[in-house]
Amino acid sequence: MRRRMQWSISSQILMIIISFFFIPIIVHGFNVEKDHEGHKVKLELVHRHNARFAKHGGGNLNKVEAIKGFIHRDYIRRMRMNQRWGLYHPISSHRRKGFETFQMSMHAGADYGFGEYFVQVQVGTPSQKFWLVADTGNELTWFNCKDALETKNHSGVRKRHKKSSKKKSKSRHKSRSRSKKKKTRTRTKTRVRAKTNPCNGVFCPKRSGSFQAVTCSSDKCKFDLSNLFSLTECPRPSDPCQYDISYIDGSSAKGYFGTDTITVDLTNGKKGKLHNLTIGCTKSVLNGITFNQETGGILGLGYGKDSFVDKSVIEYGGKFSYCLMDHLSNKNVSNYLTFGSYNAKLLGEMQTSELLLFPPFYGVNITGISVGGQMLKIPSQVWDFDAKGGVILDSGTTLTQLIEPAYVAVFEALTKSLTKVNKVSDDFGGLEFCFSSEGFNMSTVAKLVFHFGGGANFEPPVKSYIIDVAPGVKCIGIIVINGPGVSVMGNIMQQNHLWEFDLAQYTVGFAPSTCT
Ligand SMILES: *[C@@H]1O[C@H](CO)[C@@H](O)[C@H](O)[C@H]1NC(C)=O
Ligand SMILES: *[C@@H]1O[C@H](CO)[C@@H](O)[C@H](O)[C@H]1NC(C)=O
Ligand SMILES: *[C@@H]1O[C@H](CO)[C@@H](O)[C@H](O)[C@H]1NC(C)=O
Ligand SMILES: *[C@@H]1O[C@H](CO)[C@@H](O)[C@H](O)[C@H]1NC(C)=O
Ligand SMILES: *[C@@H]1O[C@H](CO)[C@@H](O)[C@H](O)[C@H]1NC(C)=O
Repeated sequence: MRRRMQWSISSQILMIIISFFFIPIIVHGFNVEKDHEGHKVKLELVHRHNARFAKHGGGNLNKVEAIKGFIHRDYIRRMRMNQRWGLYHPISSHRRKGFETFQMSMHAGADYGFGEYFVQVQVGTPSQKFWLVADTGNELTWFNCKDALETKNHSGVRKRHKKSSKKKSKSRHKSRSRSKKKKTRTRTKTRVRAKTNPCNGVFCPKRSGSFQAVTCSSDKCKFDLSNLFSLTECPRPSDPCQYDISYIDGSSAKGYFGTDTITVDLTNGKKGKLHNLTIGCTKSVLNGITFNQETGGILGLGYGKDSFVDKSVIEYGGKFSYCLMDHLSNKNVSNYLTFGSYNAKLLGEMQTSELLLFPPFYGVNITGISVGGQMLKIPSQVWDFDAKGGVILDSGTTLTQLIEPAYVAVFEALTKSLTKVNKVSDDFGGLEFCFSSEGFNMSTVAKLVFHFGGGANFEPPVKSYIIDVAPGVKCIGIIVINGPGVSVMGNIMQQNHLWEFDLAQYTVGFAPSTCT
């Protein structure tokens, strides 16, 4: 039973063109795991909040700032999603040609939230290793890139970046700084390990024998990549196909598209190769975006033609899965993003429901929510993609977002079991209900259950919706979205579960797990 959805006209979402979400990044070394039977691939998965990344910024932010960052960043991300939904509605997911090219204004991802999980990836020949954000809401995989091609004679590229080249070189060096604040970071001079190896922590396409730039005159640039923000500018046919992701506040990311090989470690110890994968080579990140040179970029796990997922599932059993460990886990805790059959220890049976694919997003068929065993009265349109609603799973959004009627019902039901708490009125990024966790017993909270079509029930642990936001303070960790629109199940809600996306069967499966 194939289910590839198309956004119907009626599901078009009223949107304000604001921004493209941008994730501050952090990159590092590399690990993997192996197996060959059934062609299994495992990529190590660690949460961005993980101490491993802390020294590169963010780790010292207090939790309150972090939560505000998550919320703001989630919001920006949502703006971009809305755009994509609008963008997709009239287009067959099989034939994406014929897009108008358009450019978007943007807004910085505020402070860097640490809401995501990172994955190790090896790209190029010989392979270069990076940590990338695992993002199911994006189909483009891109790397922070050393601008090796600029030494060749791409006048078009030069021109485009002339204005920014000074800042760029600053921002390139700034990122070695260990300082925690954006503003100081921008200006800080740093010793650069790159002296010994200029490609340390950044992808150097020139050093990859398998890298090929996509030319701006190609159909791939003009049509296929137009939905990924390729520019129309093409001074010479052989110039690379560029993208420009900009923010309202003037920050931006620019680069060009290419194709290269991603190497994966099979679970049998051998190497697997995904050839000819479209990747982005981000050359410059300007103004306020807290990039770290060791921050590799984004692993686009969203579904799209020729995306990492598309190529991977064709060769690796049609499915992928991840198990999101507690988002506050220590650095010694890691798990895997797996293409092929998962190998996680489950604490309960795997339940499945249908996967509603709206490229690049993964929709699910929620039929209702209950709290404390009581089905909540929520209009069915909230769950219905055809009625401008629906729910998607998104590893790149941190806090779950519910459309107002659903949020109100959940909020009322949850607060009923929280009558005895001492409310805290500080601002925690707009979270509505916060309280002192002193003496608070989590097991008194009424259990929240998401009911899926076909009878599957998802019961997240209480800590996934009554979240820690500051020392001694917990909040109901769900964000209200004014409808109509799509609700998003964020990564905190997904934690401590294995999630399997089966793109051959069009099912999504989940099961509780410690993910350790
Ligand atoms: C760069 O290109 C221009 C014209 O496209 C040419 O005149 C010039 O010699 C080239 N420079 C190098 C270093 O290749
Ligand atoms: C890479 O993929 C594109 C389609 O995206 C195809 O046109 C091209 O021939 C492929 N190149 C190689 C070397 O396989
Ligand atoms: C991970 O580190 C924490 C604190 O550093 C420690 O308490 C815990 O036992 C460690 N877990 C494992 C599996 O090593
Ligand atoms: C928390 O509540 C549960 C059920 O109400 C009770 O069994 C448990 O003893 C309580 N735990 C604490 C630490 O009070
Ligand atoms: C969702 O599940 C319900 C109940 O199983 C079913 O009636 C409905 O058709 C499903 N919706 C979609 C879009 O598949």
